[in-house]
Amino acid sequence: MKTVYLDAASDESIEAAAHIIRSGGLVGMPTETVYGLAANALDGKAVRKIFEAKGRPQDNPLIVHISKLEQILKLVAHFPEPAKKLAEAYWPGPLTMVLEKSELIPDEVSTGLPTVGIRFPSHPVAQALITAAGVPIAAPSANRSGFPSTTTAEHVMRDMDGKIDAVLDGGACGVGVESTIVTLASNPPRLLRPGGITLDQLQLVLGRVDVDPAVLNPLPKGARPLSPGMKYKHYSPKADVIILDGGEKAYADYVNTHAKPGVAALCYDGEDRLLNVPAVCYGAESDQAAQARELFEALRHLDDIGAKTVYARCPAPRGVGLAVYNRLMRAAGFEVCSLE
Ligand code: TXA
Ligand code: MG
Repeated sequence: MKTVYLDAASDESIEAAAHIIRSGGLVGMPTETVYGLAANALDGKAVRKIFEAKGRPQDNPLIVHISKLEQILKLVAHFPEPAKKLAEAYWPGPLTMVLEKSELIPDEVSTGLPTVGIRFPSHPVAQALITAAGVPIAAPSANRSGFPSTTTAEHVMRDMDGKIDAVLDGGACGVGVESTIVTLASNPPRLLRPGGITLDQLQLVLGRVDVDPAVLNPLPKGARPLSPGMKYKHYSPKADVIILDGGEKAYADYVNTHAKPGVAALCYDGEDRLLNVPAVCYGAESDQAAQARELFEALRHLDDIGAKTVYARCPAPRGVGLAVYNRLMRAAGFEVCSLE
């Protein structure tokens, strides 16, 4: 299959992409978090193609994207008061709510779960595509399963060229890590994946919100997490990533004493000057939004420069940093070395 490149700036491109969705095909779609691999959420056959293109395990459910709030009413069994309040506060935006699903959701989307994740993205191109397609859109991140998520159309092409019908180029993603996922099917509500909407922001609206243990810890062998995606190794570059937990000086000393061919660093802006190995920066220490925006691109760049072992500076697990920490922990297979 030839993957068509479409520039999202033109209306014809949006219409062409919408036509592909309506015809049961796959489109790489920009959102404010990461690029998504979009298909008609109500067409089980189209959704199955997503799993093939990504090499995605069959038991990992998909998020359904809407472009008008009222679309949710047909997709879920109930739209409870707390969910309404969250929608009012943070939609459209980088937040996915897990709710009891309606009959309309095909099994291919929910992979046997009684629930469905719904998201109303804020990206104007995503909204335009969903509206033009006239159907809700199922979309996982548009990367090969297990690899870092894609934040540019070029990255989507690198992973998906020849496997999907088209990619709609809407520029680089602003948030850079996937949406926050909260389940309202548990009581109290539970954070399943941290993202651009922070735990504090959820608690402001919902009161008590528990944090699923899988957010910060490796799963015990054989455990069944509430969010099936949590059990897979994720976001991994080809290199071995090791997180070094310590201040700037301890980090630089450790990296420099372990310098050898194949070793590279993933550090904060400006710290590359202190290091004797090839280094890729991912935002300033004080700017967690920049760290989120730059992380996946940085992980891909480390592969491009042929890194075999990557020593990563440890993100602070607060605010948006919790999402950065969660992704980097998974990229590292939870391998953390404390320098204190
Ligand atoms: O920002 C995002 O959420 C991006 C963009 C494209 O919208 N999408 C995304 O999808 O990250 P994906 O498939 O890469 O990650 C979705 C995660 C998976 O870990 C999956 O297991 C979990 O959400 N998930 C989906 N439906 C669920 C459900 N009903 N209950 C619990 N977890 C669910
Ligand atoms: Mg993903």
